[in-house]
Amino acid sequence: MIKVAPSILSADFCKMAEAVNNLKQWNADIVHCDVMDGVYVPNITFGMPMIKALRRYTDMPLDAHLMITRPEKYVGQFCDAGADIVTFHPEASEDADGALDVIKAHGKLCGVAVNADKPLELALPYLDKIDLLVIMTVQAGFGGQSFMSECLGKVKEADEIRRQRGLRFAIEVDGGVCPDNIAEVKRAGADIAVAGSAVFKADNPAMAVKSMQI
Ligand code: DX5
Ligand code: ZN
Repeated sequence: MIKVAPSILSADFCKMAEAVNNLKQWNADIVHCDVMDGVYVPNITFGMPMIKALRRYTDMPLDAHLMITRPEKYVGQFCDAGADIVTFHPEASEDADGALDVIKAHGKLCGVAVNADKPLELALPYLDKIDLLVIMTVQAGFGGQSFMSECLGKVKEADEIRRQRGLRFAIEVDGGVCPDNIAEVKRAGADIAVAGSAVFKADNPAMAVKSMQI
C-alpha cells in the first residue's frame, strides 16, 4: 500500500501543532516538511526550529525535504532537531556522500531528491546507500502546482534499477499528487506519495488520505 506523506507547506503556519495532530487523526503515514532557502529555490519556508517544534507535538515520522544549497552544512542539525528522514538535492551539495554519511551516523534515514527538470543520472551514484529516492513531479519551490506526469518515467526507471540490482530504497513521488493521479503514481513504482494541497485543501482530508493509500 502506498504511504501518504502530507506536506505541511499547505497547512496554516499559525496552527502547525494542530496540523500534525490532524494528520494523525486523518491516518496519514508520514509528515513531509519542505525546507526552502530562497537560493536553491525561489522561496523560503522554515528550517530546523520548525522540525524541533513539531517533534514535541507528534510521534509521526518527520520527513525533511531540504531544498537548500550546501545541505552538508545542515543535515546534522536537522537530525538533531528530530527529523527521521532527511533528503536533499545532490547537485546543491559539494559533498553529497559526506552529507548522506552524516545522516546515517545520526541513525536516521537518508535520501536524495531529483527535481522535475533534472535527470535521474544525478541520483545514480547514491542509489546503493540511500533509504529514499524522491522524484519530483513539480518544479521544487511551491505547493499547489500541477502534476507533471512526464516525470514518472524516472520513477519507472528507478524502480527497474532497484529490482535489477536488488536495492532497498523506497521511492517517494512529490508534487501535485492527488486522488486523481495516485493510480498512475503507484503503477510507476512509487511507495510513498507526498500530497500537500490534495490533503490540506480537501473538503474531507481524512477521505483524501484514505483514497491515496491504495
Ligand atoms: C515543492 C514541495 C512539495 C509540494 C507538495 O517544492 O517539495 O512537497 O509542496 O505540495 P503539493 O502536493 O501541493 O504539490
Ligand atoms: Zn517536498
